[in-house]
Amino acid sequence: MGKLRKRKTAIIFGITGQDGSYLAELLLKKNYIIHGVKRRSSSANTERIDHLFDSLNFTSKNFFIHYGDISDGTSTLSIINKVKPDEIYNLAAQSHVRVSFDVPEYTADITALGALRILEAIRILKLKKTKYYQASSSEMYGLVKKRNSLNELTPFHPRSVYGVSKVFAFHAAVHYREAYGIFASNGILFNHESPRRGPTFVTKKIVQGLVRIKKGYQKKLTLGNLYAIRDWGHAKDYAISMWKILQYKKPDDWVIATNKETTVKTFVNKVAKKLDIKLKWTGKGEREKGIDQESKNVIVEIDKKYFRPSEVDFLKGDFSKAKKLLKWKPIYNTDDLIEDMISSELENS
Ligand code: NAP
Ligand code: GDD
Repeated sequence: MGKLRKRKTAIIFGITGQDGSYLAELLLKKNYIIHGVKRRSSSANTERIDHLFDSLNFTSKNFFIHYGDISDGTSTLSIINKVKPDEIYNLAAQSHVRVSFDVPEYTADITALGALRILEAIRILKLKKTKYYQASSSEMYGLVKKRNSLNELTPFHPRSVYGVSKVFAFHAAVHYREAYGIFASNGILFNHESPRRGPTFVTKKIVQGLVRIKKGYQKKLTLGNLYAIRDWGHAKDYAISMWKILQYKKPDDWVIATNKETTVKTFVNKVAKKLDIKLKWTGKGEREKGIDQESKNVIVEIDKKYFRPSEVDFLKGDFSKAKKLLKWKPIYNTDDLIEDMISSELENS
């Protein structure tokens, strides 16, 4: 009889978020025992993971939820001490760039110091075998000098406290790797979306808005900068990369992207086209408008309240290192992503 392989245990900080839910799904399929950390809120806030409890892979012995908060070092250390996991995925963050201009100190506490608290727990508890994954961000590149694909060697120049905090968390992971020999890796994630994306991120806002306009539930979609360029992938693909990064033979830093660029305006046009809305643009700057050619109604307009004090104009990632060494590449392209987001929205709105 072959030797029985021990089941791996993982803690996911940020399990109630977009990525946490896809990662939990993936790890359950891979026979992991999962411990998700959830902060207390006035409503249940488990919509993205509720289905897991009814899934084929769920048993009451392989999926646990703990109350915790990465602003609280004691509870963070205590959960890690109780579970002593093989892998820790830090997906928890105040993850909205625009909001970080309103709550900078809070953003730094969660997004920067939260990561440090987890790393400190691993160090203090001397968990030599525990691997740590940090959800780093393409926002760290910020102000890019040349509009080429960005890679692991491109310098960082963050443009928000969110970006600054992610740079701190990135370097904290590298530092704990170098100083204490902890297996700490960074995925430098470019934008990734899905039907489970939060409603105030631009892709979800566009899909939700245009579907509701098409159904007659909403009159207008109000946006900010239409000319920012992003590299948009599907969160399902990015969850696979997180797992692969921790299975690699050594800790390292990895760009995860699709290497395709799309402006916000092109994203709007693609969604409108798929919904059979004929959109014509007029005007410039804050006066730019999208007009529905059938009804002649203005259905897209600009409000400067959605502009940021400093913008990241261009993000496109070169994922060739991950492709070569992790054998990771995205399955979904931007059109597949839009298709998935629209069909889910049509069903649920
Ligand atoms: P998300 O949907 O906003 O999820 C963030 C998660 O963090 C949620 O579960 C949230 O809990 C949790 N969280 C927030 N504050 C916390 C705290 N103080 N203690 C414990 N948990 C806390 O973000 P996402 O899109 O899944 O992204 C996952 C991670 O990847 C984030 O770190 C994000 O910054 C990073 N990232 C995302 C992208 C992207 O395009 N999606 C790209 C690069 C990097 P609640 O549900 O209670 O709010
Ligand atoms: N949110 C939002 N709302 N953004 C808008 C709007 C609007 O009404 N109108 C235009 N935009 C522009 C923003 O100015 C930005 O240039 C772009 O659309 C994308 O905005 P978001 O969807 O909010 O994402 P983000 O790029 O700022 O940040 C996301 O990606 C990062 C990785 O690059 C988040 O998921 C971060 O957590 C992540 O690290």
